[in-house]
Amino acid sequence: MKIYKTKDYRGMSRKAAAIIASQVTLKPDSVLGLATGSTPIGTYDELAMLYKQGDLDFSEIRTVNLDEYKGLEPENEQSYFYFMKKHLFERVNINLDSVHIPDGMAADGERECACYEQTIQDLGGIDLQLLGIGHNGHIGFNEPEKVFERETHCVELSGSTIEANKRFFASEEEVPRYAYTMGIGTIMRAKKILLIASGEEKAAIMKQALRGPITPEVPASVLQLHPDVTIVGDEAALSLL
Ligand code: PGA
Repeated sequence: MKIYKTKDYRGMSRKAAAIIASQVTLKPDSVLGLATGSTPIGTYDELAMLYKQGDLDFSEIRTVNLDEYKGLEPENEQSYFYFMKKHLFERVNINLDSVHIPDGMAADGERECACYEQTIQDLGGIDLQLLGIGHNGHIGFNEPEKVFERETHCVELSGSTIEANKRFFASEEEVPRYAYTMGIGTIMRAKKILLIASGEEKAAIMKQALRGPITPEVPASVLQLHPDVTIVGDEAALSLL
């Protein structure tokens, strides 16, 4: 596991973008696993800037996102599809036919999960998966559980996740209670993983995830078993390591 400590959020974003940019440069048809949340916004800003400067080409890139809320249309401003369009897809020359996000409106949830897993396999697997980390150690929407869920599945969001995500909605009641997420196995099959974290409020969970016991109660702790993980965090997030 490589750990890069940066001074602040901007530094974290630039470092993470540089790592993703080198992946895109070295393998122009890479399958990128992408994440939402507030942490990756700066990384996407940096990638959009590199594209604008003419330093990056996304025309052959394929993407798969970690998760999506159940019950939200892609046009809904709170959906992760909308987030990705706004923060990355509309700002670079990515082919929208090559981006994949679970369909929050799928009539048959189980089928949607199986299809999503198949899509990732058909793409040849994920070359580089970007991850944030929840305050409870979740990655994607894999919440603390008794077992590691292997494949893409539908999950009931925990109270702490609803609490953390309500800032994006008009009220807590509007936060969807369920989401589709890649499983821990799906994430662990990515060839490379890049986890980013910023801020003091992530310090305790970063310590637990990276130095504590490997347990499904702290889903991100499983990353200790992955052969190619890069952590990029700012000083505040890494202050307890
Ligand atoms: P955040 O969320 O980037 O908004 O802190 C991270 C996550 O829940 O994975």
